[in-house]
Amino acid sequence: SEPELKLVARRIRSFPDFPIPGVLFRDISPLLKDPDSFRASIRLLASHLKSTHSGKIDYIAGLDSRGFLFGPSLAQELGVGCVLIRKQGKLPGPTVSASYSLEYGKAELEIQKDALEPGQRVVIVDDLLATGGTMFAACDLLHQLRAEVVECVSLVELTSLKGRERLGPIPFFSLLQYD
Ligand code: PRP
Ligand code: MG
Repeated sequence: SEPELKLVARRIRSFPDFPIPGVLFRDISPLLKDPDSFRASIRLLASHLKSTHSGKIDYIAGLDSRGFLFGPSLAQELGVGCVLIRKQGKLPGPTVSASYSLEYGKAELEIQKDALEPGQRVVIVDDLLATGGTMFAACDLLHQLRAEVVECVSLVELTSLKGRERLGPIPFFSLLQYD
């Protein structure tokens, strides 16, 4: 059968000039539509995390909204729970927030204060890393709760935007890299 990574790569489409001219949009819809490819993506991320952290992960943190498509499945595969990092105004109860820049202006991410306890070891998952602004804000949130971000992972990494550098010393892993 096809190597798992190839199964994933074949199910990511590219759309030029979306959502704005000059941007090549990487679309994960075909991956979600095909169960073997989706399972391959989860298994690949999980086996990477098992080999680098050998069971010492307390939670997966899924990033609103496309990270939610992978967070709970990845957590299940690793036998841990999933916590939610959401865009501003979606979470009830006490929260902490971190802002990040968008193409135009700013946005905020939030997490519930009781989502994690100090010292807990967390892996953040999103579909894609571009500038790294979103992932960096997510790391900031977890650090506010004194959790430890042991690694950040995504399916796709747009290498020319240098998001990996934005994350500094925090380990980052992606399944597929594009310019
Ligand atoms: C996209 C993508 C990542 C982020 C990457 O999310 O899903 O979360 O952008 O960009 P960055 O590395 O430059 O921060 P988007 O904000 O479009 O929202 P969505 O996930 O809710 O669709
Ligand atoms: Mg997103």
